Amino acid sequence: MGRFKINVLAFLLLFVGKFNTLALQDVTVDLFGAENYGTVAAFGDLNSDKQTDIFIIREQSELVIFLADPKAPYFKPKVHITNDILPGDNPITSVVPGDYDGDSQMDVLLTTQTVAKMVSVYIFWGNNQTLDVGGWLKLNKTFKDQPLVMDFNGDMIPDIFGETIQPSIEVCYLSNRNPLWQNALTSSVSMRIPHSNAFIDLNKDFTADLFLTTEGSKFETWISKDGNFTKSDIFTAEPPVKNVGQSSFVDFDGDGKQDHLLPVCLDDTCQRSAIYLAKSGLKEWVPVLFEFQQRDTVWSFVQGTPNQPLALHLGDYNLDGFPDALVVLRNTSGSGQQAFLLENVPCNDPKCQSIGRMFHIHWDQSDLGAIPNAVMATFFDIYEDGILDMLVLSQAEGKKDLIIHALKNNFEADAYFVKVMVLSGLCSNDCPDDVKPFGVNQPGPYVMYTTVDSNGYMKNASESG
Ligand SMILES: *[C@@H]1O[C@H](CO)[C@@H](O)[C@H](O)[C@H]1NC(C)=O
Ligand SMILES: *[C@@H]1O[C@H](CO)[C@@H](O)[C@H](O)[C@H]1NC(C)=O
Ligand SMILES: *[C@@H]1O[C@H](CO)[C@@H](O)[C@H](O)[C@H]1NC(C)=O
Ligand SMILES: *[C@@H]1O[C@H](CO)[C@@H](O)[C@H](O)[C@H]1NC(C)=O
Ligand SMILES: *[C@@H]1O[C@H](CO)[C@@H](O)[C@H](O)[C@H]1NC(C)=O
Repeated sequence: MGRFKINVLAFLLLFVGKFNTLALQDVTVDLFGAENYGTVAAFGDLNSDKQTDIFIIREQSELVIFLADPKAPYFKPKVHITNDILPGDNPITSVVPGDYDGDSQMDVLLTTQTVAKMVSVYIFWGNNQTLDVGGWLKLNKTFKDQPLVMDFNGDMIPDIFGETIQPSIEVCYLSNRNPLWQNALTSSVSMRIPHSNAFIDLNKDFTADLFLTTEGSKFETWISKDGNFTKSDIFTAEPPVKNVGQSSFVDFDGDGKQDHLLPVCLDDTCQRSAIYLAKSGLKEWVPVLFEFQQRDTVWSFVQGTPNQPLALHLGDYNLDGFPDALVVLRNTSGSGQQAFLLENVPCNDPKCQSIGRMFHIHWDQSDLGAIPNAVMATFFDIYEDGILDMLVLSQAEGKKDLIIHALKNNFEADAYFVKVMVLSGLCSNDCPDDVKPFGVNQPGPYVMYTTVDSNGYMKNASESG
Protein backbone atom coordinates (compact mmCIF):
# COMPACT_ATOMS: atom_id res chain seq x y z
CA MET A 1 0.00 0.00 0.00
CA GLY A 2 3.04 2.25 0.11
CA ARG A 3 2.82 3.67 -3.40
CA PHE A 4 0.26 6.34 -2.54
CA LYS A 5 0.09 8.66 0.39
CA ILE A 6 -2.90 7.21 2.16
CA ASN A 7 -4.75 9.09 4.77
CA VAL A 8 -7.77 7.32 6.16
CA LEU A 9 -10.05 9.65 8.05
CA ALA A 10 -12.20 8.02 10.71
CA PHE A 11 -14.83 10.01 12.56
CA LEU A 12 -16.14 8.81 15.88
CA LEU A 13 -19.43 10.25 17.05
CA LEU A 14 -20.96 9.33 20.39
CA PHE A 15 -24.62 9.73 21.33
CA VAL A 16 -26.62 8.81 24.42
CA GLY A 17 -30.32 7.99 24.47
CA LYS A 18 -32.80 6.95 27.15
CA PHE A 19 -35.56 4.44 26.49
CA ASN A 20 -36.05 1.13 24.74
CA THR A 21 -39.03 0.99 22.35
CA LEU A 22 -39.61 0.31 18.67
CA ALA A 23 -42.03 2.52 16.84
CA LEU A 24 -41.94 3.33 13.16
CA GLN A 25 -43.33 6.48 11.61
CA ASP A 26 -44.06 7.01 7.93
CA VAL A 27 -41.96 9.99 6.83
CA THR A 28 -42.17 9.42 3.06
CA VAL A 29 -43.70 12.84 2.32
CA ASP A 30 -41.15 14.67 4.49
CA LEU A 31 -38.37 12.95 2.60
CA PHE A 32 -39.50 12.85 -0.99
CA GLY A 33 -42.69 14.94 -1.34
CA ALA A 34 -44.52 13.49 -4.34
CA GLU A 35 -41.31 12.12 -5.89
CA ASN A 36 -41.40 8.79 -3.99
CA TYR A 37 -41.16 6.42 -6.92
CA GLY A 38 -38.40 4.44 -8.63
CA THR A 39 -35.88 1.85 -7.47
CA VAL A 40 -33.50 2.98 -4.73
CA ALA A 41 -30.19 1.78 -6.17
CA ALA A 42 -27.38 3.33 -4.14
CA PHE A 43 -26.35 5.84 -1.47
CA GLY A 44 -23.38 8.20 -1.47
CA ASP A 45 -22.37 11.81 -0.92
CA LEU A 46 -22.24 13.32 -4.41
CA ASN A 47 -21.81 16.99 -3.49
CA SER A 48 -19.37 16.67 -0.52
CA ASP A 49 -21.78 18.21 1.99
CA LYS A 50 -21.26 15.21 4.33
CA GLN A 51 -24.93 14.26 3.86
CA THR A 52 -25.81 11.00 2.15
CA ASP A 53 -27.59 11.41 -1.18
CA ILE A 54 -29.90 8.81 -2.74
CA PHE A 55 -29.51 7.33 -6.25
CA ILE A 56 -32.80 6.23 -7.80
CA ILE A 57 -33.38 4.48 -11.14
CA ARG A 58 -36.73 5.17 -12.81
CA GLU A 59 -38.30 2.89 -15.43
CA GLN A 60 -34.79 1.54 -16.18
CA SER A 61 -34.29 4.61 -18.34
CA GLU A 62 -33.31 7.42 -15.98
CA LEU A 63 -30.93 7.86 -13.06
CA VAL A 64 -32.15 10.56 -10.66
CA ILE A 65 -29.84 11.66 -7.85
CA PHE A 66 -31.73 13.07 -4.86
CA LEU A 67 -29.47 15.44 -2.93
CA ALA A 68 -29.93 15.85 0.82
CA ASP A 69 -31.35 19.27 1.69
CA PRO A 70 -31.88 20.92 5.09
CA LYS A 71 -35.48 21.89 4.17
CA ALA A 72 -38.37 19.45 3.52
CA PRO A 73 -38.62 17.48 1.35
CA TYR A 74 -35.22 16.42 2.67
CA PHE A 75 -34.21 14.75 -0.61
CA LYS A 76 -34.62 16.73 -3.82
CA PRO A 77 -34.12 15.36 -7.35
CA LYS A 78 -31.21 17.46 -8.64
CA VAL A 79 -29.19 15.42 -11.16
CA HIS A 80 -30.81 13.51 -14.03
CA ILE A 81 -29.13 11.15 -16.49
CA THR A 82 -31.36 9.53 -19.10
CA ASN A 83 -30.27 6.54 -21.15
CA ASP A 84 -31.07 8.27 -24.47
CA ILE A 85 -27.69 10.08 -24.25
CA LEU A 86 -25.97 6.65 -24.22
CA PRO A 87 -25.54 4.50 -27.34
CA GLY A 88 -28.24 1.89 -27.90
CA ASP A 89 -30.89 3.24 -25.52
CA ASN A 90 -30.34 0.14 -23.34
CA PRO A 91 -32.03 -0.27 -19.96
CA ILE A 92 -30.11 1.04 -16.93
CA THR A 93 -29.51 -1.84 -14.51
CA SER A 94 -27.42 -0.45 -11.66
CA VAL A 95 -25.44 2.47 -10.33
CA VAL A 96 -22.38 2.55 -8.05
CA PRO A 97 -21.03 5.91 -6.84
CA GLY A 98 -17.28 6.06 -6.13
CA ASP A 99 -14.13 8.04 -6.90
CA TYR A 100 -12.90 6.03 -9.88
CA ASP A 101 -10.13 8.40 -11.01
CA GLY A 102 -8.86 9.28 -7.52
CA ASP A 103 -9.42 13.04 -7.79
CA SER A 104 -11.47 13.03 -4.53
CA GLN A 105 -14.68 13.89 -6.35
CA MET A 106 -17.51 11.39 -6.41
CA ASP A 107 -18.01 9.82 -9.84
CA VAL A 108 -20.92 7.61 -10.83
CA LEU A 109 -20.67 4.21 -12.51
CA LEU A 110 -23.77 3.19 -14.38
CA THR A 111 -24.44 -0.15 -16.04
CA THR A 112 -26.80 -0.96 -18.89
CA GLN A 113 -27.82 -4.30 -20.34
CA THR A 114 -27.15 -4.83 -24.02
CA VAL A 115 -29.46 -6.76 -26.36
CA ALA A 116 -27.02 -9.68 -26.12
CA LYS A 117 -27.52 -9.65 -22.31
CA MET A 118 -24.04 -8.33 -21.64
CA VAL A 119 -23.38 -5.53 -19.17
CA SER A 120 -21.93 -2.24 -20.48
CA VAL A 121 -20.29 0.14 -18.02
CA TYR A 122 -20.31 3.95 -18.22
CA ILE A 123 -18.54 6.34 -15.85
CA PHE A 124 -19.71 9.92 -15.34
CA TRP A 125 -16.97 12.07 -13.80
CA GLY A 126 -17.62 14.21 -10.74
CA ASN A 127 -16.98 17.89 -11.29
CA ASN A 128 -17.42 20.79 -8.87
CA GLN A 129 -19.88 18.95 -6.59
CA THR A 130 -22.02 17.62 -9.41
CA LEU A 131 -21.57 15.33 -12.42
CA ASP A 132 -20.23 16.14 -15.82
CA VAL A 133 -23.24 14.64 -17.60
CA GLY A 134 -21.83 15.32 -21.07
CA GLY A 135 -18.37 13.77 -20.64
CA TRP A 136 -18.84 10.10 -19.86
CA LEU A 137 -16.49 7.21 -20.51
CA LYS A 138 -17.66 3.84 -21.80
CA LEU A 139 -15.48 0.89 -20.78
CA ASN A 140 -14.15 -0.85 -23.89
CA LYS A 141 -15.10 -4.33 -22.66
CA THR A 142 -18.44 -5.68 -21.46
CA PHE A 143 -19.14 -7.99 -18.51
CA LYS A 144 -21.21 -11.19 -18.29
CA ASP A 145 -22.94 -9.91 -15.13
CA GLN A 146 -22.90 -6.87 -12.84
CA PRO A 147 -19.24 -6.12 -12.06
CA LEU A 148 -17.99 -5.84 -8.47
CA VAL A 149 -16.56 -2.47 -7.49
CA MET A 150 -13.54 -3.06 -5.28
CA ASP A 151 -10.11 -1.67 -4.52
CA PHE A 152 -8.16 -4.47 -6.14
CA ASN A 153 -4.62 -3.07 -5.83
CA GLY A 154 -5.01 -1.32 -2.47
CA ASP A 155 -4.43 2.24 -3.72
CA MET A 156 -7.74 3.46 -2.19
CA ILE A 157 -9.18 3.97 -5.69
CA PRO A 158 -12.08 1.64 -6.52
CA ASP A 159 -11.51 -0.71 -9.46
CA ILE A 160 -14.00 -2.68 -11.54
CA PHE A 161 -13.84 -6.45 -11.31
CA GLY A 162 -15.82 -9.10 -13.15
CA GLU A 163 -16.08 -11.75 -15.82
CA THR A 164 -15.49 -10.31 -19.31
CA ILE A 165 -16.33 -11.79 -22.69
CA GLN A 166 -13.69 -14.48 -22.76
CA PRO A 167 -13.95 -16.91 -19.85
CA SER A 168 -11.63 -14.71 -17.88
CA ILE A 169 -11.91 -12.60 -14.76
CA GLU A 170 -10.45 -9.16 -15.27
CA VAL A 171 -10.00 -5.99 -13.30
CA CYS A 172 -10.17 -2.53 -14.86
CA TYR A 173 -8.22 0.39 -13.36
CA LEU A 174 -9.28 3.92 -14.22
CA SER A 175 -6.84 6.05 -12.25
CA ASN A 176 -5.94 8.26 -15.22
CA ARG A 177 -9.40 7.95 -16.75
CA ASN A 178 -8.04 5.42 -19.28
CA PRO A 179 -9.23 1.86 -18.88
CA LEU A 180 -6.28 -0.39 -18.00
CA TRP A 181 -7.32 -4.08 -18.00
CA GLN A 182 -5.52 -6.89 -16.20
CA ASN A 183 -6.21 -10.53 -15.54
CA ALA A 184 -7.36 -10.61 -11.95
CA LEU A 185 -6.95 -14.18 -10.76
CA THR A 186 -4.31 -16.79 -11.47
CA SER A 187 -6.78 -19.57 -12.26
CA SER A 188 -10.03 -19.23 -14.17
CA VAL A 189 -13.30 -19.09 -12.31
CA SER A 190 -16.85 -19.34 -13.65
CA MET A 191 -18.95 -17.02 -11.56
CA ARG A 192 -22.58 -17.64 -10.79
CA ILE A 193 -25.22 -15.35 -12.31
CA PRO A 194 -26.65 -13.44 -10.44
CA HIS A 195 -23.24 -13.03 -8.85
CA SER A 196 -22.80 -13.04 -5.11
CA ASN A 197 -19.32 -11.71 -4.64
CA ALA A 198 -17.96 -9.69 -1.81
CA PHE A 199 -14.89 -7.64 -1.09
CA ILE A 200 -14.27 -7.96 2.64
CA ASP A 201 -11.51 -8.74 5.11
CA LEU A 202 -11.74 -12.49 5.67
CA ASN A 203 -8.54 -13.10 7.65
CA LYS A 204 -8.47 -10.06 9.94
CA ASP A 205 -5.35 -8.46 8.48
CA PHE A 206 -7.34 -5.28 7.72
CA THR A 207 -6.90 -5.80 3.98
CA ALA A 208 -9.99 -6.65 2.00
CA ASP A 209 -10.10 -10.11 0.43
CA LEU A 210 -12.39 -11.60 -2.18
CA PHE A 211 -15.31 -13.96 -1.74
CA LEU A 212 -16.84 -15.50 -4.89
CA THR A 213 -19.84 -17.69 -5.56
CA THR A 214 -19.06 -19.82 -8.59
CA GLU A 215 -21.29 -21.79 -10.95
CA GLY A 216 -23.16 -24.58 -9.24
CA SER A 217 -23.27 -22.43 -6.09
CA LYS A 218 -19.81 -23.21 -4.75
CA PHE A 219 -17.81 -20.75 -2.70
CA GLU A 220 -14.21 -19.60 -3.20
CA THR A 221 -12.16 -17.24 -1.09
CA TRP A 222 -9.10 -15.39 -2.30
CA ILE A 223 -6.83 -13.71 0.24
CA SER A 224 -5.08 -10.46 -0.63
CA LYS A 225 -1.37 -10.27 0.18
CA ASP A 226 0.72 -7.37 -1.14
CA GLY A 227 -1.68 -6.82 -3.99
CA ASN A 228 -1.85 -10.48 -5.11
CA PHE A 229 -4.84 -12.72 -4.48
CA THR A 230 -4.26 -16.34 -3.46
CA LYS A 231 -6.96 -18.97 -3.17
CA SER A 232 -7.62 -20.11 0.39
CA ASP A 233 -10.23 -22.12 2.21
CA ILE A 234 -11.48 -19.74 4.89
CA PHE A 235 -15.18 -19.68 3.95
CA THR A 236 -15.54 -22.63 1.63
CA ALA A 237 -18.04 -24.87 3.36
CA GLU A 238 -20.14 -26.55 0.65
CA PRO A 239 -23.52 -24.78 0.61
CA PRO A 240 -26.10 -26.58 2.78
CA VAL A 241 -28.65 -26.78 -0.08
CA LYS A 242 -28.69 -26.12 -3.84
CA ASN A 243 -30.93 -23.06 -4.00
CA VAL A 244 -28.95 -20.33 -2.22
CA GLY A 245 -29.28 -16.55 -2.14
CA GLN A 246 -26.67 -13.82 -1.69
CA SER A 247 -24.00 -14.29 0.98
CA SER A 248 -23.52 -11.64 3.66
CA PHE A 249 -20.60 -11.29 6.05
CA VAL A 250 -21.31 -9.91 9.47
CA ASP A 251 -20.33 -10.48 13.09
CA PHE A 252 -23.55 -12.27 14.03
CA ASP A 253 -22.66 -13.47 17.53
CA GLY A 254 -20.47 -10.59 18.71
CA ASP A 255 -17.15 -12.47 18.90
CA GLY A 256 -15.40 -9.92 16.69
CA LYS A 257 -15.15 -12.29 13.71
CA GLN A 258 -17.11 -12.09 10.48
CA ASP A 259 -19.62 -14.91 9.98
CA HIS A 260 -21.04 -16.08 6.66
CA LEU A 261 -24.84 -15.67 6.56
CA LEU A 262 -26.73 -17.38 3.76
CA PRO A 263 -30.48 -17.15 3.06
CA VAL A 264 -31.67 -20.29 1.23
CA CYS A 265 -34.72 -21.91 -0.31
CA LEU A 266 -35.03 -25.52 0.84
CA ASP A 267 -36.72 -26.63 -2.42
CA ASP A 268 -36.74 -25.60 -6.09
CA THR A 269 -39.85 -23.40 -5.90
CA CYS A 270 -39.02 -21.82 -2.56
CA GLN A 271 -41.96 -23.07 -0.52
CA ARG A 272 -39.71 -23.44 2.51
CA SER A 273 -36.80 -21.27 3.60
CA ALA A 274 -34.01 -20.91 6.14
CA ILE A 275 -31.03 -18.75 6.99
CA TYR A 276 -27.77 -20.57 7.67
CA LEU A 277 -24.55 -19.39 9.25
CA ALA A 278 -20.99 -20.69 8.88
CA LYS A 279 -18.19 -19.45 11.09
CA SER A 280 -14.85 -18.63 9.52
CA GLY A 281 -12.69 -21.72 9.04
CA LEU A 282 -15.51 -24.15 9.91
CA LYS A 283 -17.33 -26.40 7.45
CA GLU A 284 -20.52 -26.66 9.48
CA TRP A 285 -23.72 -24.74 8.69
CA VAL A 286 -25.94 -23.80 11.61
CA PRO A 287 -29.52 -22.62 11.01
CA VAL A 288 -30.19 -19.24 12.63
CA LEU A 289 -33.73 -18.82 11.23
CA PHE A 290 -35.92 -21.84 10.63
CA GLU A 291 -39.35 -20.81 11.97
CA PHE A 292 -41.44 -19.19 9.21
CA GLN A 293 -44.92 -20.06 10.44
CA GLN A 294 -47.20 -17.27 11.68
CA ARG A 295 -50.37 -18.87 13.05
CA ASP A 296 -51.92 -20.59 9.93
CA THR A 297 -49.66 -18.93 7.38
CA VAL A 298 -46.29 -20.25 6.22
CA TRP A 299 -44.07 -17.52 4.82
CA SER A 300 -41.05 -18.03 2.59
CA PHE A 301 -38.35 -16.11 0.72
CA VAL A 302 -39.02 -14.90 -2.79
CA GLN A 303 -36.93 -16.82 -5.36
CA GLY A 304 -34.09 -14.52 -6.48
CA THR A 305 -33.82 -13.07 -10.00
CA PRO A 306 -30.87 -11.18 -11.53
CA ASN A 307 -32.68 -7.88 -10.90
CA GLN A 308 -34.00 -8.76 -7.45
CA PRO A 309 -31.64 -11.31 -5.88
CA LEU A 310 -32.55 -13.09 -2.65
CA ALA A 311 -30.59 -11.02 -0.15
CA LEU A 312 -30.57 -10.06 3.51
CA HIS A 313 -30.31 -6.37 4.31
CA LEU A 314 -28.43 -6.12 7.57
CA GLY A 315 -28.25 -3.40 10.21
CA ASP A 316 -28.39 -3.03 13.98
CA TYR A 317 -31.77 -1.27 14.35
CA ASN A 318 -31.92 -1.56 18.16
CA LEU A 319 -28.27 -0.74 18.92
CA ASP A 320 -27.68 -3.86 20.99
CA GLY A 321 -24.45 -4.62 19.12
CA PHE A 322 -25.93 -7.55 17.18
CA PRO A 323 -26.91 -7.17 13.50
CA ASP A 324 -30.60 -7.49 12.65
CA ALA A 325 -32.02 -7.88 9.14
CA LEU A 326 -34.81 -6.79 6.84
CA VAL A 327 -36.24 -9.32 4.39
CA VAL A 328 -39.22 -9.67 2.10
CA LEU A 329 -41.31 -12.82 2.57
CA ARG A 330 -44.14 -14.27 0.51
CA ASN A 331 -47.33 -15.85 1.88
CA THR A 332 -46.99 -19.39 0.45
CA SER A 333 -50.75 -19.98 0.46
CA GLY A 334 -51.69 -16.55 -0.92
CA SER A 335 -49.99 -14.04 -3.18
CA GLY A 336 -49.15 -11.40 -0.61
CA GLN A 337 -45.56 -10.22 -0.05
CA GLN A 338 -44.42 -8.23 2.94
CA ALA A 339 -41.27 -6.83 4.53
CA PHE A 340 -40.33 -8.24 7.93
CA LEU A 341 -37.80 -7.26 10.56
CA LEU A 342 -35.60 -10.10 11.82
CA GLU A 343 -34.25 -9.37 15.28
CA ASN A 344 -31.00 -10.99 16.43
CA VAL A 345 -31.92 -12.58 19.80
CA PRO A 346 -30.35 -15.20 22.13
CA CYS A 347 -30.82 -18.72 20.75
CA ASN A 348 -33.62 -20.68 22.43
CA ASP A 349 -33.48 -23.83 20.28
CA PRO A 350 -31.00 -26.75 20.24
CA LYS A 351 -30.49 -26.17 16.46
CA CYS A 352 -28.61 -22.88 16.99
CA GLN A 353 -27.00 -23.61 20.35
CA SER A 354 -23.44 -23.63 19.01
CA ILE A 355 -23.84 -20.01 17.85
CA GLY A 356 -25.82 -18.75 20.83
CA ARG A 357 -27.84 -16.31 18.72
CA MET A 358 -30.68 -16.61 16.21
CA PHE A 359 -33.12 -14.48 14.22
CA HIS A 360 -36.65 -13.92 15.45
CA ILE A 361 -39.25 -12.56 12.99
CA HIS A 362 -41.28 -9.59 14.22
CA TRP A 363 -44.64 -10.85 12.95
CA ASP A 364 -46.71 -8.01 14.29
CA GLN A 365 -44.82 -4.97 13.04
CA SER A 366 -47.94 -3.18 11.78
CA ASP A 367 -46.14 -0.37 9.92
CA LEU A 368 -44.33 -2.89 7.71
CA GLY A 369 -47.53 -4.95 7.43
CA ALA A 370 -49.34 -1.87 6.12
CA ILE A 371 -47.18 -1.88 2.95
CA PRO A 372 -48.69 -4.40 0.50
CA ASN A 373 -46.59 -6.12 -2.20
CA ALA A 374 -43.22 -5.13 -0.79
CA VAL A 375 -40.31 -6.14 -3.03
CA MET A 376 -37.27 -4.80 -1.19
CA ALA A 377 -36.50 -3.36 2.24
CA THR A 378 -33.27 -1.86 3.49
CA PHE A 379 -31.93 0.05 6.49
CA PHE A 380 -30.87 3.65 5.98
CA ASP A 381 -29.95 6.30 8.54
CA ILE A 382 -32.29 9.02 7.23
CA TYR A 383 -31.52 11.67 9.82
CA GLU A 384 -27.82 10.76 10.21
CA ASP A 385 -28.36 10.38 13.97
CA GLY A 386 -26.96 6.85 14.22
CA ILE A 387 -30.42 5.26 14.42
CA LEU A 388 -31.21 3.07 11.40
CA ASP A 389 -34.47 3.88 9.64
CA MET A 390 -36.00 1.82 6.85
CA LEU A 391 -36.74 2.22 3.16
CA VAL A 392 -39.28 -0.20 1.69
CA LEU A 393 -40.05 -0.52 -2.04
CA SER A 394 -43.43 -1.85 -3.08
CA GLN A 395 -45.13 -2.67 -6.37
CA ALA A 396 -48.43 -0.89 -7.01
CA GLU A 397 -50.99 -2.32 -9.41
CA GLY A 398 -50.66 -0.85 -12.91
CA LYS A 399 -47.55 1.22 -12.10
CA LYS A 400 -44.24 0.67 -13.88
CA ASP A 401 -42.13 2.08 -11.08
CA LEU A 402 -41.87 0.92 -7.52
CA ILE A 403 -43.22 3.11 -4.71
CA ILE A 404 -40.72 4.22 -2.05
CA HIS A 405 -41.81 4.24 1.60
CA ALA A 406 -39.59 5.81 4.27
CA LEU A 407 -40.11 4.69 7.86
CA LYS A 408 -38.40 6.54 10.69
CA ASN A 409 -37.20 4.40 13.57
CA ASN A 410 -38.21 6.20 16.78
CA PHE A 411 -36.08 3.85 18.79
CA GLU A 412 -34.31 5.45 21.71
CA ALA A 413 -31.80 3.25 23.40
CA ASP A 414 -29.94 3.44 26.62
CA ALA A 415 -26.83 2.88 24.61
CA TYR A 416 -23.78 4.48 23.20
CA PHE A 417 -22.89 3.90 19.63
CA VAL A 418 -19.87 4.55 17.54
CA LYS A 419 -20.37 5.78 14.02
CA VAL A 420 -17.33 5.19 11.89
CA MET A 421 -17.01 6.70 8.45
CA VAL A 422 -14.10 5.41 6.41
CA LEU A 423 -13.24 7.71 3.58
CA SER A 424 -10.51 7.59 1.00
CA GLY A 425 -9.03 10.94 2.04
CA LEU A 426 -6.71 10.79 -0.96
CA CYS A 427 -6.19 14.52 -0.69
CA SER A 428 -6.73 16.53 2.48
CA ASN A 429 -5.69 19.97 1.30
CA ASP A 430 -4.34 21.14 -2.02
CA CYS A 431 -6.83 18.97 -3.91
CA PRO A 432 -6.86 19.24 -7.69
CA ASP A 433 -9.12 22.07 -8.94
CA ASP A 434 -9.82 23.21 -5.36
CA VAL A 435 -12.43 20.49 -4.80
CA LYS A 436 -13.85 20.29 -1.32
CA PRO A 437 -11.82 17.59 0.41
CA PHE A 438 -13.87 15.18 2.42
CA GLY A 439 -13.49 11.81 0.80
CA VAL A 440 -15.85 9.41 -0.87
CA ASN A 441 -17.28 5.95 -0.18
CA GLN A 442 -14.56 3.39 0.10
CA PRO A 443 -15.26 -0.26 -0.68
CA GLY A 444 -13.94 -2.87 1.73
CA PRO A 445 -12.86 -1.15 4.95
CA TYR A 446 -12.87 -3.24 8.12
CA VAL A 447 -13.15 -1.82 11.62
CA MET A 448 -12.79 -3.82 14.83
CA TYR A 449 -13.20 -2.59 18.38
CA THR A 450 -13.54 -3.95 21.90
CA THR A 451 -15.92 -2.53 24.51
CA VAL A 452 -16.85 -3.42 28.07
CA ASP A 453 -20.59 -3.97 28.67
CA SER A 454 -22.53 -2.84 31.74
CA ASN A 455 -21.72 -6.10 33.53
CA GLY A 456 -18.01 -5.56 32.98
CA TYR A 457 -17.61 -8.22 30.27
CA MET A 458 -15.42 -7.61 27.29
CA LYS A 459 -17.17 -7.69 23.95
CA ASN A 460 -15.52 -7.66 20.55
CA ALA A 461 -17.31 -6.14 17.59
CA SER A 462 -16.43 -5.54 13.99
CA GLU A 463 -17.94 -4.01 10.93
CA SER A 464 -16.99 -4.03 7.30
CA GLY A 465 -18.11 -1.76 4.51
C1 LIG B 1 -18.56 25.56 -9.03
O1 LIG B 1 -19.96 25.74 -8.99
C2 LIG B 1 -20.36 26.94 -8.32
C3 LIG B 1 -21.88 26.99 -8.29
O2 LIG B 1 -22.46 25.75 -8.26
C4 LIG B 1 -19.80 28.15 -9.05
O3 LIG B 1 -20.15 29.32 -8.33
C5 LIG B 1 -18.29 28.02 -9.14
O4 LIG B 1 -17.79 29.10 -9.93
C6 LIG B 1 -17.91 26.69 -9.78
N1 LIG B 1 -16.47 26.55 -9.71
C7 LIG B 1 -15.74 26.14 -10.76
C8 LIG B 1 -14.26 26.03 -10.54
O5 LIG B 1 -16.25 25.86 -11.84
C1 LIG C 1 -9.20 -0.07 -24.10
O1 LIG C 1 -8.77 1.28 -24.00
C2 LIG C 1 -7.42 1.43 -23.55
C3 LIG C 1 -7.13 2.90 -23.35
O2 LIG C 1 -7.62 3.67 -24.42
C4 LIG C 1 -6.47 0.78 -24.58
O3 LIG C 1 -5.15 0.89 -24.13
C5 LIG C 1 -6.87 -0.69 -24.71
O4 LIG C 1 -6.08 -1.30 -25.72
C6 LIG C 1 -8.34 -0.84 -25.07
N1 LIG C 1 -8.69 -2.25 -25.00
C7 LIG C 1 -9.52 -2.83 -25.88
C8 LIG C 1 -9.83 -4.28 -25.68
O5 LIG C 1 -10.04 -2.20 -26.80
C1 LIG D 1 2.53 -10.60 -7.20
O1 LIG D 1 2.33 -11.11 -8.51
C2 LIG D 1 3.23 -10.54 -9.45
C3 LIG D 1 2.83 -11.05 -10.85
O2 LIG D 1 2.54 -12.41 -10.83
C4 LIG D 1 4.66 -10.95 -9.09
O3 LIG D 1 5.57 -10.37 -10.00
C5 LIG D 1 4.96 -10.43 -7.68
O4 LIG D 1 6.23 -10.87 -7.27
C6 LIG D 1 3.92 -10.94 -6.70
N1 LIG D 1 4.12 -10.30 -5.40
C7 LIG D 1 4.15 -11.00 -4.25
C8 LIG D 1 4.43 -10.20 -3.02
O5 LIG D 1 3.94 -12.20 -4.20
C1 LIG E 1 -11.55 -10.23 21.59
O1 LIG E 1 -10.52 -10.27 20.64
C2 LIG E 1 -9.21 -10.41 21.24
C3 LIG E 1 -8.17 -10.30 20.13
O2 LIG E 1 -8.50 -11.10 19.03
C4 LIG E 1 -9.16 -11.76 21.98
O3 LIG E 1 -7.90 -11.91 22.61
C5 LIG E 1 -10.26 -11.81 23.03
O4 LIG E 1 -10.31 -13.09 23.64
C6 LIG E 1 -11.62 -11.52 22.41
N1 LIG E 1 -12.60 -11.39 23.48
C7 LIG E 1 -13.83 -11.96 23.40
C8 LIG E 1 -14.74 -11.70 24.55
O5 LIG E 1 -14.21 -12.61 22.42
C1 LIG F 1 -52.09 -15.85 3.37
O1 LIG F 1 -52.89 -16.09 2.24
C2 LIG F 1 -54.09 -16.81 2.54
C3 LIG F 1 -54.80 -17.10 1.21
O2 LIG F 1 -54.97 -15.92 0.48
C4 LIG F 1 -54.96 -15.97 3.49
O3 LIG F 1 -56.13 -16.69 3.83
C5 LIG F 1 -54.16 -15.67 4.76
O4 LIG F 1 -54.91 -14.81 5.62
C6 LIG F 1 -52.84 -14.99 4.40
N1 LIG F 1 -52.06 -14.82 5.62
C7 LIG F 1 -51.74 -13.64 6.12
C8 LIG F 1 -51.01 -13.64 7.43
O5 LIG F 1 -51.99 -12.58 5.56
